[in-house]
Amino acid sequence: MKNIFFRIYHSLIYYFTKKNAINIHSPYLYQLYLEAYRIDYRIPQELISYKYTLSKCNDFIEFQSIGSNKKYIKTKVKTWQKRISCKLRKRTFVVGIARYIEAKKILELGGGFGLTSALLSLSLPNVEIYTIEGVDVLNNYITNLKNSLQLKNLYNYNLDFNIAIDRFIDENKKFELIIIDGSHDYESSIQIINKIPAILSDKSIVIIDDINYSRSMYQAWEEIIKNDDFFEIKWERNSYGLLIKNTDLSKQYIKV
Ligand SMILES: C[S@@+](CC[C@H](N)C(=O)[O-])C[C@H]1O[C@@H](n2cnc3c(N)ncnc32)[C@H](O)[C@@H]1O
Repeated sequence: MKNIFFRIYHSLIYYFTKKNAINIHSPYLYQLYLEAYRIDYRIPQELISYKYTLSKCNDFIEFQSIGSNKKYIKTKVKTWQKRISCKLRKRTFVVGIARYIEAKKILELGGGFGLTSALLSLSLPNVEIYTIEGVDVLNNYITNLKNSLQLKNLYNYNLDFNIAIDRFIDENKKFELIIIDGSHDYESSIQIINKIPAILSDKSIVIIDDINYSRSMYQAWEEIIKNDDFFEIKWERNSYGLLIKNTDLSKQYIKV
């Protein structure tokens, strides 16, 4: 309940303090804004059907949660998908960003039922999409989705984020785009942000989802804005933050 009040409070503050896009002075960032937020990308029908099926599914799943709320969970698929899955319409901006920066490899930390990774896989068939999900039952949903839709460019791993990142470091794999959508708490977010520079390409973007999820998530975002020196651009949206690594750009924080 506390978190819901925080989100309402945060949204109000956001809408009263954000600037209009006209205030984006860099042509590169303005074009990124247009591609991400002013183009209506199509949501594949297969995914709309998949989400609908999940939302009606009365099967039970049980697992040890590894998010901020470490509990043994036994619940219906429809309940859990409602709780963790993103709204597909709200995710299409990632397709625009990936196209604009010509991403070759994208990593999602926090696969859930596979909605975002499948959206990216279907929309960007020439891009390699990697998704990490630590709960095996959920990772099985991603595997089944991948097989049924024949998503050849989607690679899913049932691993903890830290182990997956270490593996990518060993393989010298670099990503142009990383989406962090895992445990929505201060410690995990800061830990991941400190770890991912080793797997980022020279020019790259990181999306931190749900910065408004709770006071502690927003504290993590505020700390990144203040202390992190790795990224040139820190861009605050209502419910997520964009961190842009591109030494052609001058350092700035924007809230648009
Ligand atoms: C919000 S859900 C992801 C939703 C998904 N990105 C989507 O768009 O539908 C977060 C997921 O991250 C997983 N997760 C959280 N912390 C993790 C960790 N340290 N390692 C692996 N998976 C983790 C959780 O099990 C959960 O399924």
